[in-house]
Amino acid sequence: MTDSLTIRRPDDWHVHLRDGAMLEAVVGHTARQFARAIVMPNLTPPVTTVAAAQAYRERIIAALPEGADFTPLMTCYLTNNTDPDEVRRGFEAGVFTACKLYPAGATTNSDSGVTDVANIRGVLEVMAEIGMVLCVHGEVTSADVDIFDREAVFIERTLAPLLKGLPDLKVVFEHLTSEEGVQFVESAGANVAATITPQHLHINRNAMLVGGMRPHAYCLPVAKREKHRLALRRAATSGSPKFFLGTDSAPHAREAKESACGCAGIFNAPFALESYLSVFEDEGAIDHFEGFASENGPRFYGLPMNEDRVTLERAQTEVPEAIKADGTQLVPFHAGEKLRWRFLG
Ligand code: DOR
Ligand code: ZN
Repeated sequence: MTDSLTIRRPDDWHVHLRDGAMLEAVVGHTARQFARAIVMPNLTPPVTTVAAAQAYRERIIAALPEGADFTPLMTCYLTNNTDPDEVRRGFEAGVFTACKLYPAGATTNSDSGVTDVANIRGVLEVMAEIGMVLCVHGEVTSADVDIFDREAVFIERTLAPLLKGLPDLKVVFEHLTSEEGVQFVESAGANVAATITPQHLHINRNAMLVGGMRPHAYCLPVAKREKHRLALRRAATSGSPKFFLGTDSAPHAREAKESACGCAGIFNAPFALESYLSVFEDEGAIDHFEGFASENGPRFYGLPMNEDRVTLERAQTEVPEAIKADGTQLVPFHAGEKLRWRFLG
């Protein structure tokens, strides 16, 4: 039995670091485990320009704890009016690493998102030309589509036709949650990959709804039936280079989650690696963990791999019921549970 695991330092290819006091409270958790992270642009107002991304990057760096070695990789929030030249300029200047497509209304702060991908055709053509990654929140928003089907319908109605028209566009299907999503990514070309969160590997929709409504298990896309969780576990641990780590850590104050209209998002940054590693161990795939956590992401993004190493040891980690932040509390993923790995750094 492996009692200690040393791997190339991982990156988080999808995280919400927020802004202001919440940024200060959460960024250290991500920087402790990860060398780099793809930072989501869904602030209010959203990060839609090179100047806004540069300023946000500076605020993130200023909020890092003393001595942290962490590089935020910035993304451009696409709207119906995004200027292709702004995207090209930001990418060429090394400010934007990727663009983020939020279908309008799909999730937190997505109101300024895209109402029809036809509206961003010019942007997507430029991205395909310069080899820039499109990060996709893959859910339709039509009222007539059941929330548990929104990912599968997005593939059918939006993503498959989009890739037919732009077959070279690099796409990361973010926070994959369904068997249909796994099948789509597996059968697509090498230019299509996906991130998978820890929560979608651990929980199915029962965690949200059995024995009472559990807002801390609610995120978007929502956790689905057990067969989808199993498909995600198979994909993540398979060794395929198309799947990599993206926590989607999305902190919301406790009172905003425990509310008549609770916010979507799970704060998993503090124990992300411990959480993922237990899944790989249970699936008998510890030897594929480094690829998922540290190699497949940089390879897909065309970035160098990290050269330093981190170690996890087999030791009980108690996850606190809550973590203080911004004058309130954040309830972390696995709150009150004991995990069987510990991140040593
Ligand atoms: O659960 C989620 N929370 N999903 C998202 O897509 C956005 C995120 C947030 O920003 O809170
Ligand atoms: Zn997200």
